Amino acid sequence: MSGTIKKVAVVGAGTMGHGIAEVCAIHGYEVVLIDVSDDILRSALEKVKWSLEGLAKRGLVRESTDAILTRIKPTTSYEQARDVDLVIEAVVENTAVKKEVFERLDQIVKANAVFTTNTSTIPISELASATNRPEKFAGLHFVNPPVLIHFVEIIRGDRTSDECVATVVDFAKSIGFKYVVLKRDVPGFLANRLNARHWIEALRMLGEGFDVRDVDAAQRFRLGFPMGPFELLDFTGVDIAYSAFNEMVKRGFSAHIPELMKKMYEEKRWGMKTGVGFYKYPRPGAYVRPTILPTDRMYDLNPYRMIASAVNEAAWLVRNEIVTRDEVELAMREAMRWPIGPLTWADRIGLDNVVSILNKRFEETGLEEYKPDPLLEEMVREGKLGLKSGEGFFKWNYEKRDLGAVVYEKRHDHSVITINRPDKLNALNEAVWEGLRVALERAEEDPDVRVAILTGSGRAFCAGNDIAMMSKWKTPMDVKAWNERYATPLVEKLIEFKKPLITLVNGFAFGGGMELNIFADIVIASKEAVFAIPEVLIGGFPPLASSLGTLFVSKKLIRYALTGEWLSADQCRELGLVDVVVSSDQLEATGAEMVMKILRAGPLGVEAVKSSARACRRAYKELMRAALQEVVILSSSQDLAEGTRAFLERRTPMWRGK
Ligand code: NAI
Repeated sequence: MSGTIKKVAVVGAGTMGHGIAEVCAIHGYEVVLIDVSDDILRSALEKVKWSLEGLAKRGLVRESTDAILTRIKPTTSYEQARDVDLVIEAVVENTAVKKEVFERLDQIVKANAVFTTNTSTIPISELASATNRPEKFAGLHFVNPPVLIHFVEIIRGDRTSDECVATVVDFAKSIGFKYVVLKRDVPGFLANRLNARHWIEALRMLGEGFDVRDVDAAQRFRLGFPMGPFELLDFTGVDIAYSAFNEMVKRGFSAHIPELMKKMYEEKRWGMKTGVGFYKYPRPGAYVRPTILPTDRMYDLNPYRMIASAVNEAAWLVRNEIVTRDEVELAMREAMRWPIGPLTWADRIGLDNVVSILNKRFEETGLEEYKPDPLLEEMVREGKLGLKSGEGFFKWNYEKRDLGAVVYEKRHDHSVITINRPDKLNALNEAVWEGLRVALERAEEDPDVRVAILTGSGRAFCAGNDIAMMSKWKTPMDVKAWNERYATPLVEKLIEFKKPLITLVNGFAFGGGMELNIFADIVIASKEAVFAIPEVLIGGFPPLASSLGTLFVSKKLIRYALTGEWLSADQCRELGLVDVVVSSDQLEATGAEMVMKILRAGPLGVEAVKSSARACRRAYKELMRAALQEVVILSSSQDLAEGTRAFLERRTPMWRGK
């Protein structure tokens, strides 16, 4: 129990009130539970009893159900609240009713008691003005159901005293709740402001041809939320969210609530409680969790639009000093079960990406609500981009090594290796072959680095061996020396690499560039990426695709090795080379998403997967070596010389076949 508070009045015994009373009683408080009728109170106590029995079965309460229940005194008489130390008001969301309740309580309850309201949308100061104790009045916003979600937003009104805030904070701690304190009352407080942005963006995607299941699947299986936005809206009530958002807009929150939400509200498609919402339920009030399975379509939409919209709102709250960065994170993780806080998310996917998503949405819709908050723009200007620059909303471990044609970066817990010859379409010359190996070694030896990403700068991933390098090969000995010094060491490093390797294919992946992906554990390609192993067209052949590629990707690779035909990212996905295809504007974020998924997994399990996969690849090392030898043999052929010349002279080669 808190030092100054012994007895609590919970006014309103509905959805929230009965749960709040239960939590208080569990933590030893005497509770006066007030409502307008004995029937309502009886039903509230039944619910509390049922809930306590459930908690007892799971060993989550120490005392017996009866012992806890005896601390709750149901009554219709306000007089019973005379000697309470704290009032928690949870009556219907109606300003006139709430004001009247507070006016009456103010007359009855002892002068030093603190008053709080669980309102979601009514200004705290307006309710405080109904009493003669505005300095002892604060917002105390619980989340439904309070028995399960142990988090409150504490909101200061215009005149709330520091002492009052301290008392409410102590109380929150005493019931085992985490909390944030909003320095100023703003419509929707913290969580509902971010929810509004998040869910409105989800609703807009439905207007773009995506199904509720696509969006929910993306949120669950890509972003890692326990529920999709529509599942959650159905569960908590479309009516509640719609009314809250409307009230927030009336109070100056700048948002355009989608027509669909209004229509659903008017048609009483409120979700589980009415039996139909975004999904159908067996009957009103009967909850059966909708079946949501991963879909390919979940990669067609960009779920980072939802994240970016919430981040923009969070930036507004932080810039206006209403809450701190840490409070944003805590609130969304605790109240809304975000897997990571929105600002951490922004840091992980890059603030530059967040701003560009918002700008794009602003261009597409013309809606002011998408305009990036000045804080985000300033951070991007200052290079505070998140993990990729060592600082964003938070600080991160960052290291950058310029290896010439390759850039190595440690981004806190993973590394990003970028082939950096954009003007040469990142073609593999000696410096790239070597730089990649050195970078992989660095990633391997750094214990902080748990995953490595390989990508290319500019519009190519990697256009394959550099013809300029190949034209230096005069004798088979030159090729043998190149193979031993550059090609084999990198290929062996790729086979032996101990950590998960992800490639982000941002554009052309030709020849050796396509083959690099055979060694990646996960290949994420942008829709615009193009793949080919066209070596035969210049009289050569793709040694890795023809050997390991046919075993680890598909026999079908032989066709592409024989013809040099191009493949789209989707075709490569069907072939098995590419795992995920996304639009280019979410390629980087999808890489960060995959990293996060691996980070969440058990490190020993991940190591075991890698070690088995390595053993498989290692078993075929001889095959790969033999294939690389073929390159040496082929190098002395007239065909390769003619093919390379013809390529440079942009003419059709004249094959001799020897
Ligand atoms: P509810 O409609 O389930 O319960 C309200 C209760 O207040 C009813 O039992 C009603 O009989 C009682 N009541 C009405 N006038 C009264 C009076 N003059 N004196 C005593 N009791 C009175 O509503 P719910 O959902 O519990 O909401 C209550 C408050 O909590 C609202 O301010 C709402 O915005 C807020 N809230 C609701 C959340 C939710 O998910 N339901 C979440 C967070 C806050």
